[in-house]
Amino acid sequence: MSGGSSPGFARGRRLRSTPALRRLTAQTRLAPADLVLPVFVKEGIDEPQPISSMPGVVQHTTDSLRKAAHEAAEAGIGGLILFGIPSEKDAVGSQADAADGTVNVALQQLRADLGDELVLMADLCLCEYTDHGHCGLVTPAGVVDNDPTLDRYAAVAIAQAQAGAHVIAPSGMMDGQVAAIRRALDGAAFQETPILAYAAKYASGFYGPFREAAEGAPQFGDRSTYQMDPPNADEALREVAQDLAEGADAVMVKPALPYLDIVARVADAVDVPVSAYQVSGEYAMLEAAAANGWVDRQRAVLETLTAIRRAGAGTVLTYWAVEAARWLR
Ligand code: PBG
Repeated sequence: MSGGSSPGFARGRRLRSTPALRRLTAQTRLAPADLVLPVFVKEGIDEPQPISSMPGVVQHTTDSLRKAAHEAAEAGIGGLILFGIPSEKDAVGSQADAADGTVNVALQQLRADLGDELVLMADLCLCEYTDHGHCGLVTPAGVVDNDPTLDRYAAVAIAQAQAGAHVIAPSGMMDGQVAAIRRALDGAAFQETPILAYAAKYASGFYGPFREAAEGAPQFGDRSTYQMDPPNADEALREVAQDLAEGADAVMVKPALPYLDIVARVADAVDVPVSAYQVSGEYAMLEAAAANGWVDRQRAVLETLTAIRRAGAGTVLTYWAVEAARWLR
């Protein structure tokens, strides 16, 4: 559309002519505080372990995690979300709620180190802790058993809150998980601990590198029965409505870039904070392209983060959180 009286010279174009004008008129802003860094902490290692499919991302020792958390606070990001990798896995994922389990020890240390400076989120799932790699308990027939899993999630939520998590983020996609966790937290005097529900979580090929990072690949079958089917969009709104009815304080869409339509629809539909998780495969594919010199890394990363914000997410979980925050300063 042209504006004013000079034909062919559009209004938008006049407002684009200098970086300062573009900055002033930008409709979407991206700030360090919008970003949350996912981190992996592994039991029984002396040195951080690189993750081959996620260049630049490591499995932390408790000490290297503390250092990384300080750097993250320094960079001004909004928070961290923690994933633990225990050395011992079993059928019920005992290490997820063990007070001396790696992730709970790490939460305690970070809370002691940083207080309330960063929002410490605990991902709540069993797949990193079970020997079969599923997000819930499994019946002898090999079926993920929804309701008994809820009791496990309740116990894990309490352990994480006790360890110092500011936010509990259930990602296992069991039905009724938010209600079960809310009830458990309230019953343990954690009425003030919010739940960020991974509400619309798709069964995605983009989680591949994460399964190397968190060592939680299913040993049989896949997650297609409990995670959402990629062709479905209306279902995301039903999942979100259900989680809000059960007491979720904020909701998440995951992955991010292939599901921006879902981010936009969810953001339009709800009046709670919306997060989007830019997952491991999104990170890996852009890193691979950048390593080949096929895209300008910084420009492409910031463009994806801006796009996710533009679609309607207030918060973006991204492995680039700290680096992007430094670029944005
Ligand atoms: C655990 C969980 C997964 C991710 C976050 N929480 C993996 C999965 O569902 O298989 C993926 C994150 C990523 O790929 O970066 N349920």
